Amino acid sequence: MPDFLDVKDSRTGTSRQLAITDGAIRAADLQQLSATPGDHGLLSYDPAFMNTAACRSAITFIDGDKGILRYRGYPIEQLAEKASFLEVAWLLRHGELPSQTQYDAFVHDITYHTYVHENLKTFLSGFRYDAHPMSMLCSAVAALSSFYPESKDIFDPVERNISIVRLVAKVPTIAAFIYRHMKGLPFVYPDNDLSYGENFLSMVARMSEPKYRSNPVFTRAIEILFILHADHEQNCSTSAVRGVGSSHVDPYSAVAAGIAALYGPLHGGANEAVLRMIQEIGDKARVPAFIEAVKGGSGRLMGFGHRVYKSYDPRAKIVKRLAYDVFESVGMDKDLEIALELERIALADDYFVSRKLYPNVDFYTGLIYRAMKFPTSFFTVLFAIARTAGWLAQWEEMLLDKEQKISRPRQIYIGSPERPYQRTLTGPAGR
Ligand code: CMC
Repeated sequence: MPDFLDVKDSRTGTSRQLAITDGAIRAADLQQLSATPGDHGLLSYDPAFMNTAACRSAITFIDGDKGILRYRGYPIEQLAEKASFLEVAWLLRHGELPSQTQYDAFVHDITYHTYVHENLKTFLSGFRYDAHPMSMLCSAVAALSSFYPESKDIFDPVERNISIVRLVAKVPTIAAFIYRHMKGLPFVYPDNDLSYGENFLSMVARMSEPKYRSNPVFTRAIEILFILHADHEQNCSTSAVRGVGSSHVDPYSAVAAGIAALYGPLHGGANEAVLRMIQEIGDKARVPAFIEAVKGGSGRLMGFGHRVYKSYDPRAKIVKRLAYDVFESVGMDKDLEIALELERIALADDYFVSRKLYPNVDFYTGLIYRAMKFPTSFFTVLFAIARTAGWLAQWEEMLLDKEQKISRPRQIYIGSPERPYQRTLTGPAGR
């Protein structure tokens, strides 16, 4: 027996049954509820999509109350401990873990495509050295579209595959080139003998050594952080990728839209904001006063709270342990002590407890990135490298979903009713 929601429209006195499937009613079914013949029916009003499912997805599962995150059914804790980032990238896209043959071919394809067109170096050189790296990354990824015009053929599986491989392979190279540009250092080409993460660290840090090997603790940390950030269902940047991609633009342009969304301080930019906040606090003794100021409305405790997690973000638990490993390798740091004190006080404070505000993934990541000597403004770029895999899996799922069309929300118009034009300018209007 299917489930229904009985609704009675007091405007007209009519009753309707709306089918409930997977715990949702279809907003389109509300169109049956018209107040006057010929109107468009009832709209659902949901600013910020607080309670609207915009797609059916088989990629990532989150239970925000229980603090659960799974990619394709696999718990994030197990993937972070046992899988490689490229295994996870394959899993997100294809739905199953790769066989050895599939994995070897995928790793080969990715390493084969890590180089970028030489003109992209000229493109990056046009930026000021102090331009924000997310702004450079967004522009450079959008520019990739101009190098691969055939990528517009998004319904050709061969073109789609090569675009996805190119993006996963080239985003770390572009990111590392941006880092070198910021520092005024020569670009380092990929070393395809190295793993995905270590190759990235090599392009960032290599100087004159014939073979670069990074600190193994850093290689492991970057691999785990990439896995943790690889996907997070319908967040702001993924919705941007799906929304822009729904116009059937090429994937480079759609991913550039995701990077733009990720740049914002309420999304990927939060890890940068956390570190700035910790440095502003400056001393463990000042933490209680800072918390009181946040409660008084002076700002937010960055790295705390999440739209979906109403308990401890499972990624934050893994990152906190990782932070200890990294600091054991590079030496303890007073900023980590400030972070621990912030967490301790906030988790015992009714303001945060009653609003279910817990540390999110960004609370400790910035500390790790800084210990690895990345500049603060670069943190979100690291997030973007990882999330590229998730954006592309979500983009392809959206394209192949027969129910999806161009994304086009409705609005409730609250502006002026019709009125005649009356000139308010006193000078020439310029035409
Ligand atoms: N510090 C202090 N108060 C907070 C915080 C915070 N970090 N987050 C939410 N609140 C309060 C907020 O003021 C509101 O209080 P009240 O009910 O008295 O008005 C209540 O909690 C609910 O907040 P909201 O803004 O309605 O919650 P939201 O779901 O719209 O926001 C959020 C989610 C992540 C944007 C928000 O918690 C926030 O701004 N956190 C800080 C930024 C941050 O760490 N962002 C990273 C998110 S995780 C990585 C990612 O997915 O990109």
